[in-house]
Amino acid sequence: MKIIVFFSGVGTNLLSFLIKEKKLNYKIISTFTNNPHAGGIKIAQDFDKPCKILDHTQYKSRELHDKEIQYFLSHIDFDYIVLAGYMRILSKFLVEEYEGRIINIHPSLLPKYPGLNTHQKVLDADEKYHGTTIHFVTHELDSGPIITQQRFKIEPNDTLDSLKDKVKIIENDLYPKTISELLR
Ligand code: GRF
Repeated sequence: MKIIVFFSGVGTNLLSFLIKEKKLNYKIISTFTNNPHAGGIKIAQDFDKPCKILDHTQYKSRELHDKEIQYFLSHIDFDYIVLAGYMRILSKFLVEEYEGRIINIHPSLLPKYPGLNTHQKVLDADEKYHGTTIHFVTHELDSGPIITQQRFKIEPNDTLDSLKDKVKIIENDLYPKTISELLR
């Protein structure tokens, strides 16, 4: 099964998909980013994967940027779009065109804490558990049908950074595995 990985930042999830590609049941056809400074670009290059860069700051509106993404996608044969730290909300028309074929990972136990700064929100709320959620993307932010979740217990000495690290470690393992199983 063919996937395109979208990212905006460091790209640890992208790296994990790339490392595991040979062993698992997906093929990364292309990668995409909105951020010309994203760390993931070098990672994709190191693995000889194409990376399409469309800097959103160069477009007058989200719709115009997403129209360009739509055009890019229309020339590629793929099954699923995998959002791995893609920090932009997708326009409704794009989500509708690829309904059921866009998957996201979100660093909280949805439906709790959609949006940004999830680790801080979890600490502020004195939660007992934190974790990550893999879900289908709908036009409402971080609220599509959940595919899987994994949680861990928050320790008294956990900090913003330790929670971030713990979530990433789980995500890097869970995301490629889940996509591979989903396609199977
Ligand atoms: C992940 O924690 C993901 O849940 C969130 O953004 C982060 C991306 O990290 N949506 P990376 O760029 O894959 O390292």
